[in-house]
Amino acid sequence: MRIICVNNYDEMSEKAANILASQIILKPESVVGLATGSTPIGMYDHMVRAYESGKISFQRVTTFNLDEYFNLDKNNPQSYYFYMKKNLYDKVDIPNENINIPNGMVEDIERECIRYEKEIRNKGGIDIQVLGIGRNGHIGFNEPDIKFEALTHMVNLDEQTIRDNSRFFSSIEEVPTKAISMGIKTIMRAKKIVLLASGKEKAESIYEAIYGKITPTLPASVLQLHPDVVFVLDKDAAWKLDSKELDKEYL
Ligand code: PGA
Repeated sequence: MRIICVNNYDEMSEKAANILASQIILKPESVVGLATGSTPIGMYDHMVRAYESGKISFQRVTTFNLDEYFNLDKNNPQSYYFYMKKNLYDKVDIPNENINIPNGMVEDIERECIRYEKEIRNKGGIDIQVLGIGRNGHIGFNEPDIKFEALTHMVNLDEQTIRDNSRFFSSIEEVPTKAISMGIKTIMRAKKIVLLASGKEKAESIYEAIYGKITPTLPASVLQLHPDVVFVLDKDAAWKLDSKELDKEYL
C-alpha cells in the first residue's frame, strides 16, 4: 500500500488524474473502473483537460462504473449514468459501447448483476479501479457488514449513506434505499486500486481503513490485503495517520 498525501482537493484530483492518464498512456485499451460522488469530480475535470490537450484518448478505453441506484431512471439528474455523462463521457472521445454502468431499472436484478460480472471478465478484468470512501468506510455501495466474498449485487443503503447522499436530492425521502454495486470481491480483483479522499469527515474512515482491523464492519479495511493499492489523500483526510508512512508533498 502506498499513501500519497497532498495539500488540498485540487492537488488530490490532479494526482489521481495523472495516475489514470499514465495507465491509459501505457495501455490505451485499459479497462478502467470508475466511481461517482463528490470526491472524483475534480479528477474527471483534470482528465477532460488531459483529453482536450491531446495527452490522452479514450477511444480504446473501456469503463465499468462501481454502482448505480436501483429504480432511478438513467435520465434522472441524480442517477450515476447522468453524473458520468455530465462529468466525463460527454466531454471525451469514449465510444458509447465502451461504457458500462449497472442498470438499476431492469426487472431481473440478479441477472443484471451476473451480466455485469461477465462483461468485466470478458474484457479481461479491471486494470485500475478508482474508489471514494464513505464516512462509514464503505467502498462502492458495500456498506458495513458486507460479505467480503460478494460480487456485483443489490445492496440496501446504510442510513448514514442515505443521509450523506440526501444533499444531492431535494429531500431525504427521494434518496433511493437500494442500489446495484460491484462487490468487494469484484473490487479486489482489479489489478490496481486508487482510493481518493478529501476532507476531515473522511479522516476517521481513512485511519481505520489503513491501520484498523480488517473487518467487514469497515469495508475499506479489506484494501490492506490488495497487492497494488494507492491512497491519494488531502491533508485533512490524512491528518490522523502516522506522518512517517506518508509520501508527503505539502511539507
Ligand atoms: P463522496 O462519496 O465522494 O460524495 O464523499 C464517497 C463515497 O461514498 O464513496
